[in-house]
Amino acid sequence: MTPELSIAVRAAHRGRGVGTTLLRELIDDIGRMCLSVDVRSPAMRLYARLGFAEVCRKGFTATMLRAG
Ligand SMILES: CC(C)(COP(=O)(O)OP(=O)(O)OC[C@H]1O[C@@H](n2cnc3c(N)ncnc32)[C@H](O)[C@@H]1OP(=O)(O)O)[C@@H](O)C(=O)NCCC(=O)NCCS
Repeated sequence: MTPELSIAVRAAHRGRGVGTTLLRELIDDIGRMCLSVDVRSPAMRLYARLGFAEVCRKGFTATMLRAG
C-alpha cells in the first residue's frame, strides 16, 4: 500500500523552505508515497526536486510517486 500525501503551508509562510523541510522529514520516515498535484502549480517542481516522478495525468491533475 502506498500512502497519499496532502500538504499545505499557510500562505504567509510559503516559499521559505518550510514545505521542503516537512517533505524531507516525511521522506526519511516513510520513503514511498504518492500525491496529486495540479500541473499548473509551481509545487510540481518542488516534488520533482525531492524525487517524485509523474506516473499518470488526467486533465490538469498529475499523480506523482516517490518510489522510496
Ligand atoms: C506547495 C507547498 C506545500 C510548498 O511549501 P513551501 O514552504 O512554500 O515550499 P518551500 O519554500 O520549501 O519550497 C519552494 C517551492 O515550493 C513551491 N511553491 C512556492 N510557493 C508556492 C505557492 N504559492 N503555491 C504552490 N507552490 C509553491 C515551488 O515549487 C517552490 O520552488 P521554486 O522556488 O523552485 O519554484 C506550499 O507552497 C503550499 O501550501 N502551496 C499551496 C497549496 C498547493 O499548491 N499545494 C500543492 C497541491 S498538492
